[in-house]
Amino acid sequence: MAPRKIIIDTDPGQDDAVAILLALASPEDIDVLGVTAVAGNVPLPLTEKNARIVCELAGKPDTKVYAGCDAPLTRKLVTAEHVHGKTGLDGPTLPDPVMPLQDRHAVDFIIDTLRREAPNTVTLCPLGPLTNVATALQQAPDIAERLQEIVLMGGAYFEVGNITPAAEFNIYVDPDAAKIVFGCGAPITVMPLDVTHKALVTQPRNDAFRAIGTPVGQAVAEMTDFFERFDKQKYGSAGAPLHDPCVTAYLIDPDLFGGRHINVEIETGSDLTLGMTVADWWGVTDRPANATFMRDINADGFFALLTDRLARL
Ligand code: BDR
Ligand code: CA
Repeated sequence: MAPRKIIIDTDPGQDDAVAILLALASPEDIDVLGVTAVAGNVPLPLTEKNARIVCELAGKPDTKVYAGCDAPLTRKLVTAEHVHGKTGLDGPTLPDPVMPLQDRHAVDFIIDTLRREAPNTVTLCPLGPLTNVATALQQAPDIAERLQEIVLMGGAYFEVGNITPAAEFNIYVDPDAAKIVFGCGAPITVMPLDVTHKALVTQPRNDAFRAIGTPVGQAVAEMTDFFERFDKQKYGSAGAPLHDPCVTAYLIDPDLFGGRHINVEIETGSDLTLGMTVADWWGVTDRPANATFMRDINADGFFALLTDRLARL
């Protein structure tokens, strides 16, 4: 089967970085048409720079990286330096990128790519707030039916919130954008906290990254070392949750994940529950299903795949 053509929309972020590395390490499964940066974990000048740092770390400096929206559609940007550090990629010491940032705006790249490629052959993989994707859908509503799928990290049902008691970070930062994306009609697969909080980098898994013995293995071990302090303190968990790599792992081996095709709506009105993903997991409404919402992961299989692929870079 031909590799799946994807655009990674991202706000690196250590876990975004691992997601990008996994995709770039898997050319037989994934063809990365471009990486589009959005403001999220840290402001846009850092996320676009971090995206280029990661592509160079992967040894893929020809990857096209585009900068997109620097703020949510209507709200003030909320960032997460308390989780990811000042640079967004704190942990390893990595050189500044030499590869260029592309001239075009990320939103134009998304629209042009979806209009140029054959219908239903391009998958969007958002790993951050959904501002770029929603802006593209607003400017070019025709692209919704040209999408093969949107596979995104965001939201939660059983785990509820990480940035507020009710909301997960990516959805909370731009709930208006999330509402547009969840209502766009394209097939959507969601990796919520319910899954990603089960993808924990325990010490033996971190040791396995380091034991790869390459700059990539070392950097990933150092990133997850840094990133784990937050979740260990907050949840008492065994290590850093690799949220975003669940998206790229799903493209390689969907059988690692299990969930339900359900209705998911986004709260945009209430201050108290802003950005909540109201997931009708139990089918108590007759609202139409608009997303496959994952809950289960074969975590050992996921880490075996990840470690194996990272070792190629
Ligand atoms: C999401 O928020 C970010 O901090 C991570 O990169 C991930 O995409 C988890 O809530
Ligand atoms: Ca992210």
